[in-house]
Amino acid sequence: MARKVLIAYFSHEGENLVDDEIVDLTGKGNTKIAAQALKGQLEAKGYLVNLHRIEPMIPYPFSYQDTNARSRQEYEDGAVPLINAGPNGFEAYDTVFLGYPNWYGTIPGPILAFLRDHDFKGKTIIPFVTHGGQRFLYSLEAIKAETPTAEQKEGFAIAAPYIGSADKVISDWLAKNADFFD
Ligand SMILES: Cc1cc2nc3c(=O)[nH]c(=O)nc-3n(C[C@H](O)[C@H](O)[C@H](O)COP(=O)(O)O)c2cc1C
Repeated sequence: MARKVLIAYFSHEGENLVDDEIVDLTGKGNTKIAAQALKGQLEAKGYLVNLHRIEPMIPYPFSYQDTNARSRQEYEDGAVPLINAGPNGFEAYDTVFLGYPNWYGTIPGPILAFLRDHDFKGKTIIPFVTHGGQRFLYSLEAIKAETPTAEQKEGFAIAAPYIGSADKVISDWLAKNADFFD
């Protein structure tokens, strides 16, 4: 694998449901935690890593209920929300890790927007997901449908209550895929 890697991720910080309780996850979105852990481990292996946060131009609300209402509507409409630009020099990356929470069994709208905004031809996309129990579900197929000319390699999935084990899940996954990363 080329020594330069992009990790692009979307994470909704604010209220979320953890073990059936609404908790404030401001500053600690699950996918953000996973993306940061991945960055640290790839850097320790000698990779140059660009961590790019995908952000909708109109942020999702803090409230879990309001975020659900908006995202469900987007999901039903197949809507593609406007997102921030970047990263610079996207063409230079052969390998793109793509991190997201499972929303309604698939990729959130901002990820769909990111896939449509960029040309992935010839790149390898490595999706990773955090989820409430359904792992990747339909998201890998959804990514493939948007990026038919890219290679896809399945990354890791972390269930929300186990986000504290992100480092272990990622190191196990990197060890299992050592032929690609060493
Ligand atoms: C709007 C919304 C929809 C969700 N839909 C699903 C789902 O269909 N399946 C699932 O396993 N988890 C679902 N979840 C749970 C999230 O995937 C999980 O909490 C994730 O770790 C959140 O990551 P984040 O903190 O980076 O946003 C949903 C969460 C939200 C807010």
